Amino acid sequence: PLVSTGQLVREARRAGHGLAAFNVITLEHAEAIAAGAERAGAPAVLQISENAVRFHGGRLSAVAAATAAVARSCEVPLALHLDHVVTVDLLRQAHAEGFSSVMFDASKLPYGENVKATAEAVRWGHERGVWVEAELGKVGGKEGEPPLDAHAPGVRTDPAEAAAYVADTGVDALAVAVGSSHAMTERTASLDHALITRLRTAVPVPLVLHGSSGVPDEEIRAAITAGMVKINVGTALNTAFTTAVRAFLTDHPSTVDPRKYLAPAREAMAGTVADFLAVVRG
Ligand code: G3H
Ligand code: ZN
Repeated sequence: PLVSTGQLVREARRAGHGLAAFNVITLEHAEAIAAGAERAGAPAVLQISENAVRFHGGRLSAVAAATAAVARSCEVPLALHLDHVVTVDLLRQAHAEGFSSVMFDASKLPYGENVKATAEAVRWGHERGVWVEAELGKVGGKEGEPPLDAHAPGVRTDPAEAAAYVADTGVDALAVAVGSSHAMTERTASLDHALITRLRTAVPVPLVLHGSSGVPDEEIRAAITAGMVKINVGTALNTAFTTAVRAFLTDHPSTVDPRKYLAPAREAMAGTVADFLAVVRG
């Protein structure tokens, strides 16, 4: 069934598990995530980023409806989340399109503007029962420098600032910078586990790890033990998918029916989903 992200996060936190959230780009992603979750017998979040919506010509309702339909057809509980939203207009469509949660990403803004924009998004979301994740991103950047990407390796979230940010914005979950970075195709990231523990102590809401594709299994497990709850995975699915497509087309250069190469690619992606779910469930 389609359930709410807030419910899955609360259940995972209570059980001491991680909750994996996987990025959907194509229909095959949604199907693979659902299949992997069914195989693992574990709940998961299907998340669609603003970039993915843009890829589909801005047709949020088309991609959301298809993804939600896949989720509704499953035995395991699955939730629908709108990821890395920077455009307020898109945020305002989320509720009507069946998303129970959004990640509002003002992390590129200076601290004060991030707080103001995020508090506004949280107010809007809470009036509609939408769970809101946000990110505290400009960490360590000196005045006058261009804003740092929150998930560049080396960037860190300060616990005292994180506590103030959560209090000032009212967010339901906080994405933090602890050593992971987006779009890694090798699992070589090393996390700052002592910082995760300090953040968990400083911040009352669940913590979110972005860029988990680059984080080794044992580092993910340790991060969950230290207090991370929502574990976002995107690139690892694309690596599995594209590797399978490439292998198939290399072996079958005259194939034209996309189902011939999408089927093994979707299956490879489902395997990766099931593997991540086994890791976050301990
Ligand atoms: O919000 C999405 C995630 O942070 C995915 O990051 O593609 O590096 O796994 P990743
Ligand atoms: Zn992310």
